[in-house]
Amino acid sequence: MGHEKIETNIGLMIILIILVVSIGGIVQIVPLFYMDTMVKPVEGLKPYSALQLAGRDVYIRESCMVCHSQMIRPFRAETERYGHYSVAGEFVYDRPFQWGSKRTGPDLHRVGGRYSDEWHYVHLMNPRDVVPESVMPGYPWLADNVVDGETVQYRMQALKDWFGHPYTDEQIKRAPLSVEGKTELEAVVAYLQNLGSAIKTVR
Ligand code: HEC
Repeated sequence: MGHEKIETNIGLMIILIILVVSIGGIVQIVPLFYMDTMVKPVEGLKPYSALQLAGRDVYIRESCMVCHSQMIRPFRAETERYGHYSVAGEFVYDRPFQWGSKRTGPDLHRVGGRYSDEWHYVHLMNPRDVVPESVMPGYPWLADNVVDGETVQYRMQALKDWFGHPYTDEQIKRAPLSVEGKTELEAVVAYLQNLGSAIKTVR
């Protein structure tokens, strides 16, 4: 009876469809309003230093995320290989985050501290010098490019003003000085060495 009424009345049908679909929407949207309380920085997480932030920009510009994820899933096979699984509170100073979904190379979320700076320098210049079977391209130009301190300073200021990243005025003021003369290679390695280090992993 009721069923026939709905099927023969297109207006009623449309209203009911909208009702049903919007329930699905609300279920997804409402939790986002409580995001602030859901996603707190994990203890010990610091916003990126000027040099690390510059390195992060290099990582994005060179599209490292095309081959590397930064998201360790909570499965045994992953945690045994990479360390503690990734948690939301580790990414609050990542705008945008670099989770990625493609793993031609290994996940990099806990690569911080796994190798020496020197290993990274050699590896980024020509990966095959340290990993003979590697298919990763070399990035030798990073050693020639110098980090632009003023750009980093603007970026830090914007992250503070717009998103509330807790940089002090002193840190922002000193940003150009702290990256002076540094190459993009040094910057990206500073960024890599910091990855995932807020959670100490036992491996
Ligand atoms: C074409 C795919 C590809 C791209 C692009 C790429 N990588 Fe890789 N990367 C790999 C592969 C494959 C490996 C594993 C072999 C090796 O260690 O070289 C790797 C390994 C690594 C490792 C060592 C990880 C570990 O746990 O041993 C680091 C660090 C790394 N890449 C950083 C980078 C950075 C930084 C960039 C961007 C500048 C980049 N990769 C771009 C494919 C890629």
